[in-house]
Amino acid sequence: MTDDPFTDAGKPARVSISRLKLANFRNYESLSLRLGSSHIVLTGENGAGKTNLLEAISLLSPGRGLRRATYTDVTRANALDGFAVHATIETPEGSVDVGTGLAGNTPGDSGRRVRINGVTVSSADELLDYSRILWLVPAMDGLFTGPAGDRRRFLDRMVLAIDPAHGKRVLDYEKAMRSRNRLLTEDRGSDAWLDAIETPMAELGIAIAAARAELMRLINGMIERLPDDSPFPKADCLLDGELEQRIGIEAATDVEEAFRRALHDGRNRDRAAGRTLEGPHRADLLVRHRPKSMPAALCSTGEQKALLIGLILSHARLTGELTGIAPILLLDEIAAHLDEGRRAALFDIIEELGGQAFMTGTDKALFDSLEGRAQFFKVSHGEVEPG
Ligand SMILES: Nc1ncnc2c1ncn2[C@@H]1O[C@H](COP(=O)(O)OP(=O)(O)OP(=O)(O)O)[C@@H](O)[C@H]1O
Ligand SMILES: [Mg+2]
Repeated sequence: MTDDPFTDAGKPARVSISRLKLANFRNYESLSLRLGSSHIVLTGENGAGKTNLLEAISLLSPGRGLRRATYTDVTRANALDGFAVHATIETPEGSVDVGTGLAGNTPGDSGRRVRINGVTVSSADELLDYSRILWLVPAMDGLFTGPAGDRRRFLDRMVLAIDPAHGKRVLDYEKAMRSRNRLLTEDRGSDAWLDAIETPMAELGIAIAAARAELMRLINGMIERLPDDSPFPKADCLLDGELEQRIGIEAATDVEEAFRRALHDGRNRDRAAGRTLEGPHRADLLVRHRPKSMPAALCSTGEQKALLIGLILSHARLTGELTGIAPILLLDEIAAHLDEGRRAALFDIIEELGGQAFMTGTDKALFDSLEGRAQFFKVSHGEVEPG
């Protein structure tokens, strides 16, 4: 057996960021960091730039990053040029340079450019060829009690990590739905126009529901593998959506045809409502705390957090097993609300998952047990120093 992490049979390969460069990103005017492949701990005062650094890394995956911010907001205030994030990623096939950003004269939200090994690519989805980046941030603490839309996005991001075509599927569906809504409310859509939109909407809708249902099947299987005495309790996840529920029982072609008909027959209702009232954009992710047999939303703050951590870790394990690449984890303020036992258990699970984890906190002492297993950095006023 060699100690090369990439040839450790059966384990997902470790993919790690060895170099990170930021320019005009949030409170970073410019930053250049060299990193080893072990975990990274970032500590510093409130407002130092810890979450910003994780956010920059999150933009090395498709989507709007862990804050879902506009590109105008992530660009450093008063910067003369647009923002840029560059990283070198070590993969089993060698080093890959990835980068993203806005050129200085690009209007704020017309989209960011993504470059891989110096070549501009047409879609950020191509970043998924090299790494998977998953995160848990304090803003997600309200996931179980907040709006269904947040849970749907969370669900679709989980799907995206194992099925890179999912992002485009969801975007295309939403685009088609917006066109349908416009045609209905402006009352200028002929039946033929609406037919031409509803047919692909039904196709995409079924593909979305099927991908979500498959994720649910896989993640529930993974959660089952959590030990019964895990400090992160087992979650029972269920999709609340008509298509998602029918897809497992009936033939996909029948469900698709039924959805197409429902869209057709619901035109007057949707015209009156001003929006499409049926479809995968209405689905919800229902989570229950198994040991307590309680809906997650009715659990205590700490119980919800433990449940969410268990879900994220199970998803990270699933992603590693299915893709063969251990995901890079961005865990913002992860240790703050955990007691010592749970903290130690969390660090052990992270270690076992095999990916590089970036962890932040205001209190370095909470990470003492990672001494020798992680690299420690001090963040202060948009600067990062070892320590
Ligand atoms: N576009 C921007 N330009 C300049 N500074 C910004 C921009 N956006 C945010 N900031 C500032 O960046 C600073 C650091 O924010 P960040 O969220 O990274 O802090 P943090 O270290 O995670 O703090 P906490 O411990 O409170 O979570 C904040 O003071 C924030 O106001
Ligand atoms: Mg923060």
